[in-house]
Amino acid sequence: MDFFPFLLSFIFIILHLSGQRVVRGEDDIQHHHHKEPITKLFVFGDSYVDTGNLNKKGFAPSWKQPYGVTFPGKPSGRFSDGRVLTDYIAEYLNVKLPASYSKREYVAPHQLKNGMSFAFCGTGVFETLNQGPNMTTQIDFFQKEIEDKVFTASDFINSVALVSVAINDYNCYTTKNGSIEGLPSFISSVVNQTIKNVIRIKELGVKKVIISNLLPLGCLPYETTLSSFKQCNETTNNLIVTYHNTLLTEAVKKLNQQIEDHSSSLFIVLDIYDSFMWVLKHPSTYNINNELEPCCIGVSSKYFCGMLMEKVKMYKVCENPESALFWDMGHPTDAGWHAVYTRLRIMNALENIYDH
Ligand SMILES: *[C@@H]1O[C@H](CO)[C@@H](O)[C@H](O)[C@H]1NC(C)=O
Ligand SMILES: *[C@@H]1O[C@H](CO)[C@@H](O)[C@H](O)[C@H]1NC(C)=O
Ligand SMILES: *[C@@H]1O[C@H](CO)[C@@H](O)[C@H](O)[C@H]1NC(C)=O
Ligand SMILES: *[C@@H]1O[C@H](CO)[C@@H](O)[C@H](O)[C@H]1NC(C)=O
Repeated sequence: MDFFPFLLSFIFIILHLSGQRVVRGEDDIQHHHHKEPITKLFVFGDSYVDTGNLNKKGFAPSWKQPYGVTFPGKPSGRFSDGRVLTDYIAEYLNVKLPASYSKREYVAPHQLKNGMSFAFCGTGVFETLNQGPNMTTQIDFFQKEIEDKVFTASDFINSVALVSVAINDYNCYTTKNGSIEGLPSFISSVVNQTIKNVIRIKELGVKKVIISNLLPLGCLPYETTLSSFKQCNETTNNLIVTYHNTLLTEAVKKLNQQIEDHSSSLFIVLDIYDSFMWVLKHPSTYNINNELEPCCIGVSSKYFCGMLMEKVKMYKVCENPESALFWDMGHPTDAGWHAVYTRLRIMNALENIYDH
């Protein structure tokens, strides 16, 4: 019996009805640096953080075998054999996994109290090659939930947002033969739009916003396939990733400085680039022996992980997903994300999250 959540809501209602509120004095917070637990997580962006918004019908590899084979044991809508960045960041922050927006009508009300994920695989800040709501539309959905009073001001005390976006914008630019000369200005517009988006999330009430930077895209299997998964495409890493991450870090720093009455950490850049690079250089520390080749791959370039033809598997899966860094052509494994998360923790990547 799921009695405990019921009991908690009951106590909450009683406290609420009796008009009691527990308010911690400001002095208290400043002098004791008390770590108040984070209670809600709101998630925006792409497949690195989407935990199941994609519709099962239609083109949905993440709802097909062998996705989810490591966790939860069956396809869950995540583009991984198991967990994705959201799962690990939720664990890091000790907050429960939020409900997926597209399932909001089917989950119990208490599950909405963990926050909500609006992230949708394939999306970017602008239009991409994939379907799915861009980040602006994801925030529109969030705003509508607030207007509908699904979330009210009290829900935003100790709330955090997690954002992962831009990779699909760059895939789209490259696929559409965008010029190398045009890249700097395109990257600048992607970062500017990202900043507009996170300001909006903050203005809607979320207290802190964690923005993931780009992992080394040039090391993703779809970039390394030409070298038979032997080496990263340094051109992509230098031309796109380094510039994007530099602009993002500068813009977020500026943003934090503009908000005078706070310390430096309302917006936090999560340096997954650095952690990823570290894992790539020290794979054995994380029991990874297959760095660049994806664990699940189509039998030829026409096919991809999860694809069936007349019920015949057109893909092969490696024996030990837990020793591979990448799962499919564009996504890390559960083990890959776990390694990145372990490194992020060691680096105290989110130490500012509890600052007031
Ligand atoms: C996001 O998508 C909406 C709906 O398709 C579109 O009107 C809008 O221009 C897009 N926003 C950006 C920043 O590309
Ligand atoms: C991009 O260039 C390639 C090779 O030159 C060409 O085959 C393809 O049709 C072009 N794609 C677009 C969207 O222009
Ligand atoms: C992005 O914003 C910066 C700072 O406001 C500005 O200098 C730059 O021109 C913008 N980039 C684009 C492509 O609009
Ligand atoms: C590396 O990426 C660049 C664009 O970012 C592309 O022009 C080049 O062909 C790629 N090189 C290899 C070996 O895939």
